[in-house]
Amino acid sequence: MSAPKIRLDSVSKSFGGSVVAVEKLSLDIRDGEFLAIVGPSGCGKTTVLNMLAGLEPATSGTMALNGKPIEGPGAERGVMFQDYALFPWRTVRGNVEFGLVYGPAENGLSPAERTERVERTIEMVGLKGSQDKYPHQLSGGMRQRVALARLMASEPEILLMDEPLAALDAQTRVILQDELLRIWGQDRPASERRTVVFITHAIDEAVFLADRVAVLSSHPGRLKQIVDIDLPRPRGDATRRSGDFARLCQSIWELIREEAYRATMN
Ligand SMILES: Nc1ncnc2c1ncn2[C@@H]1O[C@H](COP(=O)(O)OP(=O)(O)OP(=O)(O)O)[C@@H](O)[C@H]1O
Ligand SMILES: [Mg+2]
Repeated sequence: MSAPKIRLDSVSKSFGGSVVAVEKLSLDIRDGEFLAIVGPSGCGKTTVLNMLAGLEPATSGTMALNGKPIEGPGAERGVMFQDYALFPWRTVRGNVEFGLVYGPAENGLSPAERTERVERTIEMVGLKGSQDKYPHQLSGGMRQRVALARLMASEPEILLMDEPLAALDAQTRVILQDELLRIWGQDRPASERRTVVFITHAIDEAVFLADRVAVLSSHPGRLKQIVDIDLPRPRGDATRRSGDFARLCQSIWELIREEAYRATMN
């Protein structure tokens, strides 16, 4: 088997010496893989993503990308944060364009191509007509779409996404799940796909999208199990209605049920 794209080896992260957010996490993420991470609130998902993004150092253990240590952010990794992190002083168009001007796709795009890409991406996430609005004029779901568009416009090789669809209504969510699989490359050969690390609370979303689902347990965040999702691709509505899909969702739910209940007690 080829070397992993990203390798986490016994990675731990504590805050202020007492809070252990992540403990001894070892995980290989393959090139072109769609990996979902699920687990109860507070189990360390965002912390893992921040470390992969190069925004937080690990307290111990090693993290490597293409065999080289992760020491900071890089243009090959696009990040979508849980709180959207939009620029309030930029319009929708300005926010989306930001990813292109400063992102990895900047090279080689003419101004006309850039404009075309920005408009197309805005349309794709259903924000046509809102291009000139500012974040404070948008609903939470719309802001999330802007953040998604900003990430997708730059088409990075590795997408690191923290609950990117959580604030959307059910219908939009389904549309964007399909769209995300298209952008990832589910219609292309495995060798031409991007690598995605996708954090979600929603088990059905993880199963629908991912090649593998990493289930974390909490306090401290540990890897409980990795579940292979062998549903055929391309996936779509038929997948969502299939018995295999329901069975996989159920088995992952059983893995985290106890913890999820415990988390609601805290
Ligand atoms: N900067 C920080 N300082 C101190 N503690 C932190 C910090 N960031 C995270 N933590 C703690 O680390 C643990 C994991 O937090 P994290 O945000 O990674 O969880 P999560 O799985 O993303 O949760 P959620 O599903 O609610 O987004 C929590 O106990 C949290 O309080
Ligand atoms: Mg989080």
